[in-house]
Amino acid sequence: MLGRFFNHQKESQAVDVKMDVPRHVAIIMDGNGRWALKRGMPRNIGHREGMKTIHRIAEYANHMGVKVLTLFAFSSENWLRPKTEVDFILRLPERFLSSELPKLQANNVQVRVMGAVEALPSHTKKAVDTVMFETADNDGIILNLALNYGGRADIVQAVKRLSSDVEQGRCQIEDITEEMISEKLYTSDFPDPDLLIRTSGEIRLSNFMLWQMAYSEFWFTDVLWPDFGTEHFAEAVSVFQQRKRRYGGV
Ligand code: FPP
Repeated sequence: MLGRFFNHQKESQAVDVKMDVPRHVAIIMDGNGRWALKRGMPRNIGHREGMKTIHRIAEYANHMGVKVLTLFAFSSENWLRPKTEVDFILRLPERFLSSELPKLQANNVQVRVMGAVEALPSHTKKAVDTVMFETADNDGIILNLALNYGGRADIVQAVKRLSSDVEQGRCQIEDITEEMISEKLYTSDFPDPDLLIRTSGEIRLSNFMLWQMAYSEFWFTDVLWPDFGTEHFAEAVSVFQQRKRRYGGV
């Protein structure tokens, strides 16, 4: 499995490539809180509904031929939210395990998790370990959940591991390349995202995969994440397919 999709893009490559199905789609699942508040419900109900959207989109993306779907589930900055909300979100992987696992298995979805998982509560870690273990042999789409993830923190942990290689004499500072940094990031097994989708009308990256999205195409929608359907995903992919990616070329 390791390295199955490893293919980091370089500026010199793939000028004017024909747009096909994106291999890797990343989504910032935003708007859960507003979805609930609009209905007079507590914000956490929005997160619960947002969790239900995940399988719908993963199944559809799988059928479309997307290889990796990375979802921003909990950022390293989300600890700033009220404790009750943080606790609720960090219980979602357990709910996810019990309500979604049979569907994930039926659709051959492999679940992975990236981020500073060591800092998550033990019940969250246990749930994500179980769902990863149970789906490890599936060879359909990879559903990569970003949990306690931050783009800058990802780069910091990569730099630390690379520095350790230098310290141990495994490589020389002057030999460090972009590929070597990519190989130390949490996403080292995957190609860089081709397409980023952000829901709820916010137009920013919010510290999501900063290094990896150097050449990603962005698509934003006002639709709130719990309302995000396969028709919205299809529209995003269709817009992506009309884009001309030049990677710095002409
Ligand atoms: C952003 O909406 C959403 C989050 C911070 C949490 C997203 C989490 C899920 C959809 C479920 C994760 C599921 C698993 C299995 C880990 P927001 O709260 O910022 O919405 P707002 O901008 O309307 O307030």
